[in-house]
Amino acid sequence: MQRLSILLISIFCFGFLQAEDGYKLWLRYDPVTDPQLLVHYNKNIRGFMIEGSSSTLLAAGEEVKTGLSLMLGIDIPQVSSVRKHGVIIAGKPGDSGVIASLNLKDKLSKVGDEGYIIVNTRYRHRKVIVIAANSDAGVLYGTFHFLRLIQTHQNISELSVESAPKTKIRLLNHWDNLNRSVERGYAGLSLWDWNALPGTVDPRYADYARANASIGINGSVLTNVNANALILTREYLEKVAVIANIFRPYHIKVYLTARFSAPIEIGKLKTADPLDPDVIEWWKKKADEIYEHIPDFGGFLIKANSEGQPGPQNYNRSHADGANLLADAVAPHGGIVMWRAFVYDNNVPDDRAKQAFNEFVPLDGKFRKNVLIQVKNGPIDFQPREPFHPLFGAMPKTPLMPEFQITQEYLGSSVHLVFLAPLYEECLKSDTYAGGKGTSVAKIIDGTLDKHQLTAMSGVSNIGNVRNWTGHPFAQANWYAFGRLAWDPYMNSSDIADEWIGMTFSNDNGAVERIRKMMLDSREIAVNYMTPLGLHHIMYSGHHYGPGPWVDRGRKDWTSVYYHRADSAGIGFDRTSKGSDAISQYLQPVREIYEKRETCPENLLLWFHHVPWDYKLKSGRTIWDELCLRYDGGVKSVRWMQGEWGNLKEFIDKERFEEVRALLIKQERDAKIWRDGCILYFQTFSKRKIPEGVEKAEKTLDYYMNYRYTDIPGISR
Ligand code: GCU
Repeated sequence: MQRLSILLISIFCFGFLQAEDGYKLWLRYDPVTDPQLLVHYNKNIRGFMIEGSSSTLLAAGEEVKTGLSLMLGIDIPQVSSVRKHGVIIAGKPGDSGVIASLNLKDKLSKVGDEGYIIVNTRYRHRKVIVIAANSDAGVLYGTFHFLRLIQTHQNISELSVESAPKTKIRLLNHWDNLNRSVERGYAGLSLWDWNALPGTVDPRYADYARANASIGINGSVLTNVNANALILTREYLEKVAVIANIFRPYHIKVYLTARFSAPIEIGKLKTADPLDPDVIEWWKKKADEIYEHIPDFGGFLIKANSEGQPGPQNYNRSHADGANLLADAVAPHGGIVMWRAFVYDNNVPDDRAKQAFNEFVPLDGKFRKNVLIQVKNGPIDFQPREPFHPLFGAMPKTPLMPEFQITQEYLGSSVHLVFLAPLYEECLKSDTYAGGKGTSVAKIIDGTLDKHQLTAMSGVSNIGNVRNWTGHPFAQANWYAFGRLAWDPYMNSSDIADEWIGMTFSNDNGAVERIRKMMLDSREIAVNYMTPLGLHHIMYSGHHYGPGPWVDRGRKDWTSVYYHRADSAGIGFDRTSKGSDAISQYLQPVREIYEKRETCPENLLLWFHHVPWDYKLKSGRTIWDELCLRYDGGVKSVRWMQGEWGNLKEFIDKERFEEVRALLIKQERDAKIWRDGCILYFQTFSKRKIPEGVEKAEKTLDYYMNYRYTDIPGISR
């Protein structure tokens, strides 16, 4: 445990001596400078007790000690008994006579395995603050919550917090390759230095785990869904075990992606047929071997029969056959399987948006108990805006877990300021009507609707080895927001933003308000300059950074013309009953709402309808005019963000202020390229005048079609 202390001390001290580089994320523990608040904290916090001695509790103790001394500017002593007012007591009733004597049983019975309570109470007439839980992990989470209260300058004299996660497994999916490249990663190389492991361990692994624990993330899939079977060999498992050991005190399990053809590639079998006895035996032995190295291994994530990945369908077997094969192998060890529903095939002559539903709904009820189906938030692929995936609510017998993308593959990579909590929230709050009105996606994935015990949420990580972890300083907020929503899918983006801003930049009310507004608006701004009114998948092929509505070559379902369907009559994909009928996959009344142009939400209009260019929207404007104005509005809003950021100079350290300022300039350049490229291209079909007020494009369509970026992070040229 000494290692932990040294690590933490080095993190904090190092951070202090250095120019502000964003390394500390939201765990900055900046000194509280407001004199009144400082008096309040000093009165209420005079010492702390950590009851118990596990590595998790020691980590909690280190965090309290370091966090408090940094924020309060004095050393808060660790004590072993309550002899004065103001002692913080953290622990479980089983380890702590003090906590056991406090009559917290009822409260603790409500917060389950990983939850916690934080209360002000008295112990032998002395005022104390108790952070109590039923497990060490709960104590650690409670500790971070308590520190957050101080980081965000809250009053701590009347605390009555009860918090428990609403999903059981909350994990990051790293799309990291063994050569350290990161698929759709824009923040440097993978954190996992496989060449150096197991002998050399990067101290960042512990910092990573600590940051995740602070927001309740309890699992990490270390490898890309486009998997490499080598990760399952003994050599790699030894390396993985080292990472797992570092994560363990922070209550984080490791998971790996399993390549379906691994029995052939590393097992020398002739087949990977899931019903073949040798294949079954091979996976069973492989699972046993994994658990020998990593006794608390979480399980497998699998992408099968999608985008060229091998899978059970290669042997005419179903996704259930494939998932159950792996589920049976890990079940004796308590492992789970997350089987992805992101499947589509250009040889299937049906709308891509419909294929996952068609494939998986008939399999409902056919999966083992330890299988979850991992479903992207929308039916295509992490677009700036999609309707919720129709699978949510359509497989009551199977636990479904949402997959959100934290890395900004389609949202400006690590260059654009786009706060993604509103996107996640929009999906989680969508009403599926699966159990009648008010059956949000959140109610399905947290198990309340269908009484599932196994529940989970995953986010595709935006983390790399750049110093500030995520590239854009604001991209840290997306990691943060994902963790908070995985803990509580009912949280509001606005509250999440407030927490993050307070911990990361400033607690000044005016500054928080400004930054919050920028963050909350930023996603809609990006939608406007990229894919307004329900447009989707019109990005440049290869890299997905800039516009490419003109992409019409190659695999059909990877072109843009497949999705926007612009022609002389109008624009948009007809997914109504007269078109691809994708709307039939939604329940009533959602189906009917989407079916009619008049009731379809305008922000999804071109997702579901092919609309004549002169079709009038609620604003009274034609779709053509509205499209142009939205694109233009997006660009102007980026300029507004630049102005807002400029006004924040006095509240932000020089380094991060400058970094964000420079990024917003690039964002404006890109927004203009999106706007002008798309408007000029769609104008070749609409043949209409660009409405007044829209800025004139500086270049010709040809220029935008041939534009080559030289500065997209993570994209090789
Ligand atoms: C997107 C992304 C791929 C990724 C895939 C997936 O299509 O561009 O890089 O592999 O999603 O989620 O499997």
